[in-house]
Amino acid sequence: MRKIIIAIDGYASTGKSSLAKLLSSHLNYTYINSGSMYRAITYYAIRNKLIPLTKKNINSLIGLLSKIQLDYKINKSTGFSDIYLNGSNLESEIKSLEVSNYVSSVAEIPKIRKHVVEIQKSFQHKGGLVMDGRDIGSVVFPNADLKLFLTASDHIRAKRRFDELINEGYEINYDDIFNNIISRDKKDTERKDSPLIIPKDAVVIDNSKMSIIDQLNFIIKLIKSRFNF
Ligand code: DC
Repeated sequence: MRKIIIAIDGYASTGKSSLAKLLSSHLNYTYINSGSMYRAITYYAIRNKLIPLTKKNINSLIGLLSKIQLDYKINKSTGFSDIYLNGSNLESEIKSLEVSNYVSSVAEIPKIRKHVVEIQKSFQHKGGLVMDGRDIGSVVFPNADLKLFLTASDHIRAKRRFDELINEGYEINYDDIFNNIISRDKKDTERKDSPLIIPKDAVVIDNSKMSIIDQLNFIIKLIKSRFNF
């Protein structure tokens, strides 16, 4: 059976990664969370005191990109890849609100995007790939076999993110999460370099009232009808 590339883009906290994980498990495909690369670089910038992103700090961060080794290794207990930065597992740290607050500013720096997009493109040869993000169907894999674009109401997205972080033990308040989601969407859609757009050939899924299983079933049906699986 032909292995396809599936690009999942969408607004912040629309459940892209949960859906991508479920879909990749179902198809026995590799899953890559592209946002984790921007988050890991942001974490590195915070740890190396390169925040705020002044011109000087941006240039330093760009100069240090060759020293930032990003890898993915399968986590045996979850079955999914965790991101590693210079050998350290960062899967949990990159979800903090501190990283979330700066990541869209890091992700709008063109030289950082170019570097990250090259790494992302290198996964193409894997065959059988689900990658989620903001520019996967438009820039990273413009020839992806299937492009999905997720959306949901602002409050539903904020509530989902809030619940997820509370479950992981973060002390947060709902309004901060809501504001972070809205400001990231604004930055992601308005940035000059590869902004978040709905690719012309994407299937848009508003999952405000859909469970993750509803979404999976919808996509599996779509794949079966399009690719004769
Ligand atoms: O998917 P996420 O929320 O973890 O992504 C974090 C940020 O990274 C998001 O606000 C925008 C940026 N991003 C991006 O610009 N392009 C991608 N392909 C993935 C993420």
